[in-house]
Amino acid sequence: MRGVVLISGSGSNLQAIIDQATDIDLEISCVISNHADAYGLTRADNANIPTHVVNHTQFDSREDFDQAVSKTIDQYNPDVVILAGFMRIFTEAFAQKYCGKMLNIHPSLLPKFQGLNTHQRVIDAGENEHGVSIHFVTAELDGGPIIAQSSIAVLPNDNASSLAERVLIEEHKLYPKVIHWFTQGRLKLNNGNAVLDENIL
Ligand code: GRF
Repeated sequence: MRGVVLISGSGSNLQAIIDQATDIDLEISCVISNHADAYGLTRADNANIPTHVVNHTQFDSREDFDQAVSKTIDQYNPDVVILAGFMRIFTEAFAQKYCGKMLNIHPSLLPKFQGLNTHQRVIDAGENEHGVSIHFVTAELDGGPIIAQSSIAVLPNDNASSLAERVLIEEHKLYPKVIHWFTQGRLKLNNGNAVLDENIL
């Protein structure tokens, strides 16, 4: 299958996907970033993957930005749209357009800690467990059907960056695995449910 990956920053998840692309039957058609200086663009260049920057600050509205991103994505006619640390909120129309073929990774055990700064918020809340979730994207922010999660223990000396580091290790294992389910045709969005091998997740 062909996939387009959207990023905003470091792109360590993108790197994990690039590294395993052959094993997970994914051809990365292009990488799109809303920041020209995102390190993930360098990672894509190094892997000879075409890149595009769609800078959100150059658009008057969210709709216009989404349309520009959508136009870029559609040039490649991908089977899957992979959000990997893409830090913009899409309009409902955009989410609907790619419904069932757009995945996102979020650094918390959803539905807990939707939104930003999850690692610090986990510490502040005194949680003893944290982790990562991968879900289908729907119009609700960080609210689409959950496909898979991986958890870690929060240790007494943890801070936001030590948590981020350990959660990222889980992210890099889990995202390629979930993408592979999708490229194998085993994972689908059916009537609002994430379904793997005919079983609702
Ligand atoms: C990850 O923690 C991801 O879950 C979140 O943003 C971070 C992106 O990291 N959405 P990277 O750019 O993949 O290194």
